[in-house]
Amino acid sequence: MSGRLVGVGVGPGDPELLTIKGLRALREADEVFVPVGDTGEVGRAEATVREYLDEGRVRRLLFALSDDVEARERNWTNAAREVSVHLRDGKTCAFATIGDPNVYSTFTYLARTVREGLPEVEVETVPGITAMQDLASRSGTVLLEGDERLALLPFTAGEAPLREALALFETVVCYKGGGRLREVLGVAEEVGRLEDGVYGARLGIEGEEVLPAAEMIGREGPYLSTVIFTRRGAPLG
Ligand SMILES: C[S@@+](CC[C@H](N)C(=O)[O-])C[C@H]1O[C@@H](n2cnc3c(N)ncnc32)[C@H](O)[C@@H]1O
Repeated sequence: MSGRLVGVGVGPGDPELLTIKGLRALREADEVFVPVGDTGEVGRAEATVREYLDEGRVRRLLFALSDDVEARERNWTNAAREVSVHLRDGKTCAFATIGDPNVYSTFTYLARTVREGLPEVEVETVPGITAMQDLASRSGTVLLEGDERLALLPFTAGEAPLREALALFETVVCYKGGGRLREVLGVAEEVGRLEDGVYGARLGIEGEEVLPAAEMIGREGPYLSTVIFTRRGAPLG
């Protein structure tokens, strides 16, 4: 008999952005896991969960998102092994993750690795509010209207996908670009799309910044940085 693995999106940072369904999934789970490690991402899910659950209810999984591929895989394997012990006992295990569990989330890797060892495990997700939605709200940005299209991409994919997206999509959201913000904004400026950009860092967390992207020229941001470029009025190039 294997249990259930539930990926719970807890929102980007503000504990009030955890949904009622997400909270229920966390409260009803036999075991609650949070990722811990050495990036700005980890720690945030735990902080949100700890607003609602006692410390003793929360199990920490080492999930350092190191650049070293082998170290990362080792982390995922160890984390999967730890969760699988409880799943084998038929327990329901919840894993809290920032934003949404189906958008660039460590949950995807965890679930995949767990399933390799326990193919019969039930995997579910509870959607969470994404950083993109939170930034749109905090900056008063309409993400899409009418026939407009949206591209969401990580800057870790490089400059070319960003250029392409800015040429083709009315709205472009760039994640994982904090440490290379100069390059992100440089590309947008070059193609004439800086003006309608908004930048948000550490949304819902101490030290939050929400600014027009043009005001960030020359600065870098933290790991938890998001940029939205919209196109109001002018046609695409
Ligand atoms: C691994 S992805 C996680 C995305 C998340 N699952 C979601 O649905 O939004 C991490 C990226 O999400 C964005 N992000 C997540 N939380 C954020 C926050 N509180 N403030 C700004 N950006 C955030 C940043 O672009 C960061 O580099």
